Amino acid sequence: MRIVSVVGTRPQLIKAAALWPVLRASHDEVFVDTGQHYDEAMAGTFFGELGLPRPDHALGVGGGGHGEQTGRMLTALEPILIVERPDAVLVYGDTNSTLAGALGAAKLGIPVAHVEAGLRSFDRGMPEEINRVVADHLSRWLFAPTPTAVANLAGEGIVDGVHLVGDLMQDLVARVALEIRDPGALVATGLGLIPGGYLFATIHRAENRTAPAMAAWTALLAELAAVDRPVVLSLHPGTRAALAASGTTLPATIRVIEPQGYRTTLTLQLHAAAVLTDSGGVQRESAWLGVPCLVLRSTTEWVEAVEESAGRMVVVGLDRGRARAALERLAPAGEVGALIAAERAAGLRLPPAGAGERIAAVLAGR
Ligand code: UD1
Ligand code: UDP
Repeated sequence: MRIVSVVGTRPQLIKAAALWPVLRASHDEVFVDTGQHYDEAMAGTFFGELGLPRPDHALGVGGGGHGEQTGRMLTALEPILIVERPDAVLVYGDTNSTLAGALGAAKLGIPVAHVEAGLRSFDRGMPEEINRVVADHLSRWLFAPTPTAVANLAGEGIVDGVHLVGDLMQDLVARVALEIRDPGALVATGLGLIPGGYLFATIHRAENRTAPAMAAWTALLAELAAVDRPVVLSLHPGTRAALAASGTTLPATIRVIEPQGYRTTLTLQLHAAAVLTDSGGVQRESAWLGVPCLVLRSTTEWVEAVEESAGRMVVVGLDRGRARAALERLAPAGEVGALIAAERAAGLRLPPAGAGERIAAVLAGR
């Protein structure tokens, strides 16, 4: 099958890196990068690190308002789809690049394949929820990562074309798990951190970039951070811009670092005492790595990750009291905490989910 894959953001480059080797074993893939993410640390770096092929078409769309950004993608994508004449357009996740890929294809009558179909927060205030609902309702192949996603689709009357394939991102974590297990991997980050001696955080959701939310999560991180166990915050450039615009400052116990590469990010998660995040990808990665995770949102689409975590993943929102109680229970400070982190890393074993192979097989009609 001739497939145009549309990516544009950091997590989509990472998902594409998991899929392309298996997809190209049985299909002809044309790779389109919308350029929604464009900084070297948010996009360019992943091509080299993960061996992603260079895009056949780079749209260079960049940032902007939702309508403007999505509109520019649609305008740039349409002539490419007309020339490439693919049998399918494949989109990942729930970003504006997902929406543009699905809508652009559907308008031309090209079947859409959606990886990570069926996820729902049931909160239409989230831009991602709009994107996923539209993409799912336009798709011929719906590759659901979890049973809950399948049930969500059924709840909206979508049953045909739904395939429970597992989580593509697990395939990639499984590929690099052995490389990051050794404490030497943490030393190699050059950040001077010791196992269990820090909390790793990322935060970028639109709802967490409002002034009240930023005041709440900076206070939450400040409360959990200690001089001997700082918060290491890998800061998304959009969050950095929002903090600067609102004049919000962070205490010294919150150590801000630039967005990191893929392996470094997994290493920082694995050897942390705990992870604090509003990221969908980081949430699941910390679950696979067995690291305690506080989800800094009021809901999560990844219901199974919470249910199967044996209490290690807690949705705390921006509630400081809940966050502190969960952290005290899951990640004791001091030598005990360091020992727990070291044992966890040493014991890491993660099988691939096999999602990539299932997706490629379904598209091949097998
Ligand atoms: C997008 C997705 C979100 C996903 C996230 C992954 C949408 C609506 N949101 O959010 O679902 O979880 O990517 O990280 O598609 N910026 C830079 N450099 C970059 C990229 C972004 O400076 O390389 C800044 C710009 O100020 C930009 C802002 O971040 O305006 C927001 O970027 P955008 O791509 O619109 O949304 P994200 O917040 O990254
Ligand atoms: N990630 C990364 N560098 C970072 C932060 C995250 O490589 O500094 C990776 C992370 O390991 C995961 C993916 O980016 O694989 C998650 O993307 P993001 O949090 O941007 O978006 P989301 O998953 O919430 O859509």
